Amino acid sequence: MIYRSIETLRRAIATRRAEGDRIGLVPTMGALHEGHISLVQEAEKTCQHVIVSIFVNPRQFNSQTDLAHYPRTEADDIALLDGRCSLFIPSVETMYPSGYCTSVQTGGLAERLEGAHRPGHFDGMATVVTKLLTITGPDQAFFGEKDWQQLQIVRRIVQDLNLPVDIVACPTLREPDGLALSSRNRRLSHSAREIAPKLHTIMQDTALAIRTGMETDAALAAGKEAFAHAGFGPVDYLECCHAETLEPARPGSAPLRLLAAAFLGSVRLIDNIVI
Ligand code: PAF
Repeated sequence: MIYRSIETLRRAIATRRAEGDRIGLVPTMGALHEGHISLVQEAEKTCQHVIVSIFVNPRQFNSQTDLAHYPRTEADDIALLDGRCSLFIPSVETMYPSGYCTSVQTGGLAERLEGAHRPGHFDGMATVVTKLLTITGPDQAFFGEKDWQQLQIVRRIVQDLNLPVDIVACPTLREPDGLALSSRNRRLSHSAREIAPKLHTIMQDTALAIRTGMETDAALAAGKEAFAHAGFGPVDYLECCHAETLEPARPGSAPLRLLAAAFLGSVRLIDNIVI
């Protein structure tokens, strides 16, 4: 079933909840791929009513060009899900009607990494995720580890705003050559697609170097050099951080995560791995 209005979706959810079903939300911006399907599969394990939202949220794009180029593949998305769950596909007007003027302002861990390079992105993300959570009132919401910083911020929002939902993290799915699945991958040219998996390979090399005792700054500098050599540019960041606070790693801090963002032509790729 496809819902485009908040009222009809809410009525349907209320009916399913009254029947005793657990509600699961998988928020997406569409251009669905196997990574999204793995989130749906995870949701189906514990929730009898799974809702996939598809909404390209204009408020989380800090570049109008990026928004304009973001892939929109609604018919394919509907076909891929093949009726296995409910879909919520609101219009921009439904989510942000005329006069809309409220937003969720993030700080702290949202100011680093992606936040530093994409001003306003996390406030836009936080606003729409908070709206989607309050519209659907799910028992659980499923987010991919591919957007690691987003996942930590969503956990923070839920804690700070006392939202009664369990956030479930799902592992990143990769192509056989290591490239993390992403809706943006379909915008890579043939030659860029050949280079793209090196993002992951170089990150693995960097993580190994840090794990085996190389000084962190030296390992990160070598990683950035390897990115440039492979054809990435500009490299927004390659950082070794505390996995939850996203503070730069200090001696003894754990668990650690390596996060990177780099351009290949006009396509910006991000990835993260455990150290
Ligand atoms: O990860 C995404 O696709 C988006 O940031 C999300 C969580 C659906 C909010 O628009």
